[in-house]
Amino acid sequence: MTVILEARDLVKRYPLGDGEVEALRGVSLQVNAGEFVAIMGSSGSGKSTMLHLLGGLDLPTSGDVVIDGIGISALDEERRTLTRRDKTGFVFQFFNLIPLLSVAENVALPFLIAGDHIGRHRERIAELLGMVGLADKADHRPDQLSAGEQQRVALARALATKPAILLADEPTGNLDYTTGAEILDLLWDSADRLGQTVVLVTHDARAAAYADRVLVVRDGQVRDEITLGRRSDHQARPLIARLAELGL
Ligand SMILES: Nc1ncnc2c1ncn2[C@@H]1O[C@H](COP(=O)(O)OP(=O)(O)O)[C@@H](O)[C@H]1O
Ligand SMILES: [Mg+2]
Repeated sequence: MTVILEARDLVKRYPLGDGEVEALRGVSLQVNAGEFVAIMGSSGSGKSTMLHLLGGLDLPTSGDVVIDGIGISALDEERRTLTRRDKTGFVFQFFNLIPLLSVAENVALPFLIAGDHIGRHRERIAELLGMVGLADKADHRPDQLSAGEQQRVALARALATKPAILLADEPTGNLDYTTGAEILDLLWDSADRLGQTVVLVTHDARAAAYADRVLVVRDGQVRDEITLGRRSDHQARPLIARLAELGL
């Protein structure tokens, strides 16, 4: 198995008032290529901080992140941005779509940012919209879509350039149960059918249950690891039982 993403003893401190908050206290982890990993923990446990560091959106106070063989701490800002653009796709809780762009243009954004013309990527954009079930909404604006549809656009955008790693921060946090399950099904399909590496951050055991492996985070540390394996039923009960056994 190939390790595609690695965290090495990550510490992250944020300045706060006169002092600091230690959001991560020595996090090490490895994600294999094609694996679907969930990072689960309660609010404030350090999940978003961890995901931002894993995706090179921010730098650790100490430690390093290695993305597809590239250590990001040694890179300058520009190279880190390019590595992030090349290797990662992000999905956030609040979709982060551009309101003035159409659905197709939002999906094409990674190509537009790279300086490409949208016309060169028509086929890929159509393929992505088909994959998330929005082929008939290509010309809509984000505000003409439901929340679940907006998140599907965000997911299509994140996968547009076929990034090595898809990172999702509470992607179902702003969706009802059924709509959230549709997004999780799409994440799981991308892992299962496309071999996409997925790292999902969530506070919800039902979402984490989609993963092959669950890392349980508390107070800025990975406290436990639960291997579930690839399953198509997404049953949350075995995970919840394991969490209960661990006293979580
Ligand atoms: N930019 C920041 N400045 C100061 N403190 C922060 C910042 N971001 C996060 N924190 C603090 O770091 C801790 C972990 O936050 P976060 O990673 O957002 O947790 P989670 O995503 O699990 O809710 C919290 O105590 C939070 O208040
Ligand atoms: Mg968070």
